[in-house]
Amino acid sequence: MSEQRKILVTSALPYANGSIHLGHMLEYVQTDMWVRFQKMRGHLCTYVCADDAHGSAIMLRAEKEGITPQQLIDYVREEHYSDFKDFHVDFDNFYSTHSPENRELSEQIYLKLKAAGHIASRNVTQYYDPEKGMFLADRFIKGTCPKCATADQYGDNCEKCGATYQPTELKNPYSTISGATPVLKDSEHFFFKLPNFQSMLQEWTRSGTLQESVANKLAEWLDSGLQEWDISRDAPYFGFEIPGAKDKFFYVWLDAPIGYMASFKNLCARRPELDFDSYWQEDTDTELYHFIGKDITNFHALFWPAMLHGANLRKPTGVNVHGYLTVNGAKMSKSRGTFIKARTYLDHLNPEYLRYYYASKLSTGVEDLDLNLEDFAQKVNSDLVGKVVNIASRCAGFVHKGNNGVLTQPAQEPELTQAFAQAEAEIASAYEARDFAKAMRKIMALADLANAYIADKAPWAMNKVEGKQAEVQAICSLGINLFRQLVILLKPVLPQLTQAAENFLNVKAFTWADLPNDLINHQLNEFTPLLTRIDMKDIEKMTEASKQDLLETNVAPAATTNGELDKAPLAAEINFDAFAAVDLRIALIEKAEFVEGADKLLRLSLDLGGVKRNVFSGIKSAYPDPSLLEGRLTLYVANLAPRKMKFGISEGMVLAAGPGGSEIYLLSPDQGAIPGQRVM
Ligand code: MSP
Ligand code: ZN
Repeated sequence: MSEQRKILVTSALPYANGSIHLGHMLEYVQTDMWVRFQKMRGHLCTYVCADDAHGSAIMLRAEKEGITPQQLIDYVREEHYSDFKDFHVDFDNFYSTHSPENRELSEQIYLKLKAAGHIASRNVTQYYDPEKGMFLADRFIKGTCPKCATADQYGDNCEKCGATYQPTELKNPYSTISGATPVLKDSEHFFFKLPNFQSMLQEWTRSGTLQESVANKLAEWLDSGLQEWDISRDAPYFGFEIPGAKDKFFYVWLDAPIGYMASFKNLCARRPELDFDSYWQEDTDTELYHFIGKDITNFHALFWPAMLHGANLRKPTGVNVHGYLTVNGAKMSKSRGTFIKARTYLDHLNPEYLRYYYASKLSTGVEDLDLNLEDFAQKVNSDLVGKVVNIASRCAGFVHKGNNGVLTQPAQEPELTQAFAQAEAEIASAYEARDFAKAMRKIMALADLANAYIADKAPWAMNKVEGKQAEVQAICSLGINLFRQLVILLKPVLPQLTQAAENFLNVKAFTWADLPNDLINHQLNEFTPLLTRIDMKDIEKMTEASKQDLLETNVAPAATTNGELDKAPLAAEINFDAFAAVDLRIALIEKAEFVEGADKLLRLSLDLGGVKRNVFSGIKSAYPDPSLLEGRLTLYVANLAPRKMKFGISEGMVLAAGPGGSEIYLLSPDQGAIPGQRVM
């Protein structure tokens, strides 16, 4: 084996304010497969990540849920970590950007940049929410589009006509946080002088560190001249205070990439073979790779190398950019059930199915990648179950029955064994180049050869012929050994299947170097099915459950987490007919019960003076003992189109108000109202 490389690898740090979905997972699975490959090759490869815990979104969400930001980020980190673990994403460390190491490193790097003259400061005029007492990022300002006059458009662009503008150009602007009209206010900001790094970046982006299409895209920016980058935010903000500047915080994107270093530093403290400084000093023989999605290219391929360079630290060896995941040919959609959370997937399907499918589609480009759910089932079933596992299941029985599970000398098939031996190097270079699709194609071509060989020899027929038993054993021993090689080649993609195969083959954990070592006169363990076929029904259940994830939070609109519903100014006027079209009734809650498998729903059986209705309502968090609702009257929208949900049909909805959680208040009429009465 060639010399041992020292490689540090990262995936982008997921925001600590939402769940991991299959789009994120594309990145973490891609990185994990590459890291597993490097480790199997005997390199010292270290994979670190962390939650990206800072920023105003996280601060506001914690506030809304009535918890501290620390409680929120601790909770989310647990959730993220278990999602990754269950997808077999094997980080050496999964940390948080809100850590002492990150604070210290962020301060150090900032102070170095400042001392070297790379930090500027000047006043910036910005919208300010006088009620909430905070400056407003563009996404917290809404108003009427200055071009087409559509109401409720965000601070920087109009969804209706596509116009882009400054938040100050909006008509009737309001803060989505408090509803107040924002005022303009001045404040001092700090800037990182990116233009100082223009020529360094021009060279660095063209030095083989980036995919060519990425470098081309960045060249457009570089050629038109770089702008200074605003790296400070005013209090209140959840982040690190800037040294020497009271009530000013580092913008989340300043300390987020430093979080890669901090996670690694935290790991170094418990792994003596890793020396932090030797990985980050300017002259280093270690390698550093970042895996990211195309949306965050500027941060990683312009700002980050410039920061590192300005602080006299090493720059990345490579920034590997991937495209976006689409599902069934379109952007992930909540209503179609294709916005699939990692956990929802795991509730229904084996993670290795998806790891293989992603591998079979990922190559070196930045194009978007489509998860077509039918193609997914078909490909996994035909390749993994029909080709790879099939070889072992066809051969194992004969070895067990005919030779007590002991492999003999394999049959001599020079062409076949040579095809395997030759493909090995090509497959390794495909993995190295992150061309997983190419590696999978080559591996499946080998599986086809092995299957064709077994089919041609037909040991099941031969076994019935007197005197052919030894040949059957030789054929099946070759078959099992070819299967063994396929498993080694697939190990970076399918760690769990590999482990099951290692058990069956009765060997210790495979490394790449094991490829040529055939098992001869070797005792096998019992063969147990290694992988079952995907059933389309499970995929349907998963998409149903994903629609459910959406409905559960939206059943009671007042219980949505984004609060904009409550804070927006009153809606546009409607005429009486529009109101009268809503058939509001008094309803008696006859029965209220938990719904098995639903986190947020209660099932309500309503009586409208003889007419019975069944409603699922997302109010469980506020009514932990649903029996207390029984016998109560409430207001009910009777003519809302029924909605099919995972647990049954919901016919209309009951009305409630409040921010969510334990604060959801079901409406009641005064005494005297009777079930079925129309509300006007
Ligand atoms: N917190 C920042 C990254 C900071 S890195 C110093 C962030 N977080 S994120 O949660 O929005 O995204 C994490 C990673 O997942 C990013 O690389 C992003 O491109 C990737 N993806 C998010 N949605 C995705 C898809 N639908 N498809 C593929 N990748 C996706 O950005
Ligand atoms: Zn518009």
